[in-house]
Amino acid sequence: MTARIFISRDSGALCVGAEQVATAFRKAFEKRGLNVEIVRTGSRGMYWLEPLVEVERPEGRIGYGPVQVKDVDGLLDAGMLDGGKHKLSLGRVDDIPWLKRQTRLTFYRCGIVDPRSLEDYKAHKGYEGLKKALQVGPKAIVEEVVTSGLRGRGGAGFPTGIKWRTVADTPPQQKYIVCNADEGDSGTFADRMIMEGDPFVLIEGMTIAGIAVGATKGYVYIRSEYPHAIEAMEIAVREARKGGMLGRRIAGSEFDFDMEVRAGAGAYVCGEETSLLESLEGKRGEVRAKPPLPAHIGLFGKPTVINNVLSLASVPIIMSEGGPHYRDFGMGKSRGTMPIQLAGNIKHGGLFETGFGITLGELVDDIGGGTRSGRPVRAVQVGGPLGAYFPRELFDTPFDYEAFAARDGLIGHGGIVVFDDTVDMAKQARFAMEFCAIESCGKCTPCRIGSARGVELVDKITKGEDRAANLIVLEDLCNTMKFGSLCALGGFTPYPVMSALTHFPEDFGAEKKRLAAAE
Ligand SMILES: Cc1cc2nc3c(=O)[nH]c(=O)nc-3n(C[C@H](O)[C@H](O)[C@H](O)COP(=O)(O)O)c2cc1C
Ligand code: SF4
Repeated sequence: MTARIFISRDSGALCVGAEQVATAFRKAFEKRGLNVEIVRTGSRGMYWLEPLVEVERPEGRIGYGPVQVKDVDGLLDAGMLDGGKHKLSLGRVDDIPWLKRQTRLTFYRCGIVDPRSLEDYKAHKGYEGLKKALQVGPKAIVEEVVTSGLRGRGGAGFPTGIKWRTVADTPPQQKYIVCNADEGDSGTFADRMIMEGDPFVLIEGMTIAGIAVGATKGYVYIRSEYPHAIEAMEIAVREARKGGMLGRRIAGSEFDFDMEVRAGAGAYVCGEETSLLESLEGKRGEVRAKPPLPAHIGLFGKPTVINNVLSLASVPIIMSEGGPHYRDFGMGKSRGTMPIQLAGNIKHGGLFETGFGITLGELVDDIGGGTRSGRPVRAVQVGGPLGAYFPRELFDTPFDYEAFAARDGLIGHGGIVVFDDTVDMAKQARFAMEFCAIESCGKCTPCRIGSARGVELVDKITKGEDRAANLIVLEDLCNTMKFGSLCALGGFTPYPVMSALTHFPEDFGAEKKRLAAAE
């Protein structure tokens, strides 16, 4: 039997040298006359261990990392191919506590399979969800997704099954499935990871969505900053088509479904669903007023399901294991698992998939191991650039849509960005307003003008210009943006600003208010 080792070609691994390490192993195997296959996988999501090299052994995959080119000969001399001990030994990868503590439903195969191989996907339970979907038919698929309690992972948390039902209930006509892979939130990379590491799961999820609502065509809109994800998706779409899993009569059934990959041009607002649809239609990415909902009048004026990558990639396991199995994980109205992304100044950054309900403190201190700088954690921003900053006092907040909303925060796409005690929260608040001013599509006044005025106000406050009066104006402006903006870009920018001001007033030269939410 040929020995096999596994090295990721995920962007996060490539940028710390995975390609060079793979080349060094290839050369070393040639030189030593060893017959070893190097399988290029996605990442397991433990980025501090990348480049991670895994060796296939009867007892499971044995890991070594982070491996650099200079380590290659030493590893082979230490008997790495037989699972030999070395200073970079990590033991059985599945036993690494960080991985073992997770509940990997959506990321089940990520980091394990060859993302370019349809055969490998099928060998790891791939297309079992589609098989079940074809057995039960469109109506039952929608009900299974409703039962699972799956809520949109793009940020708004809208129930996916209800959205699908709305599109399914529109009269038969050309309908579309659009996958939102714009992933513009700071500190997020789960969409990228799954597209690079397990692209077929997204294709399967979109295919099931197509059957459920009567759509025959899908588009994945991927941000242009993700060239590796674009390449991985394009290869997987080609392979799926070749294997009869896309196109006419998919998997020998009566259903047709095909899809295309589209690259965005790089605007944060193009992640907003209606703006994305405009962009897909070849127009400037500007938000559309709602109603009509995209479910009724979406892409090219036709009923459209638009879902985040993670929402769609969770569907195959919901179908294969059943809605109740998925719903069993989580808390309250947040059901199933969430692929949480730990980023910023954090010791153990990466992807941690777990049932909703874990606390913010557990994620940052325990799983993330605190800051990379070794300094105390001062603040975390959860949910991207429009998410609130939480201080330590709020670390008992469970990861749950409602619990975060009750504390004026949001979980968004599940990104957590950690800051140590050197952060200046007034600068962060200014940045939120500045970001909004730069990224605003310009359609509505509270966002277009409000964000520019917001930057000026924060500047005046930090300079001590008429501070008390300007603090009142800032709060008033935030309320205008929150309640008067057409979409969540202008509507949520007040969250990082007001949370910074509420929890860290000393950075603005203001007095601390009572922390109502923490009491
Ligand atoms: C400014 C802005 C940016 C957004 N960016 C994204 C994004 O990058 N990816 C995403 O899935 N949803 C994003 N959303 C949310 C989408 O509008 C929409 O809610 C989502 O695609 C629906 O899919 P879901 O129900 O599966 O979450 C954004 C929203 C706003 C207002
Ligand atoms: S809130 Fe901003 S991004 Fe959204 S529609 Fe208004 S101007 Fe455009």
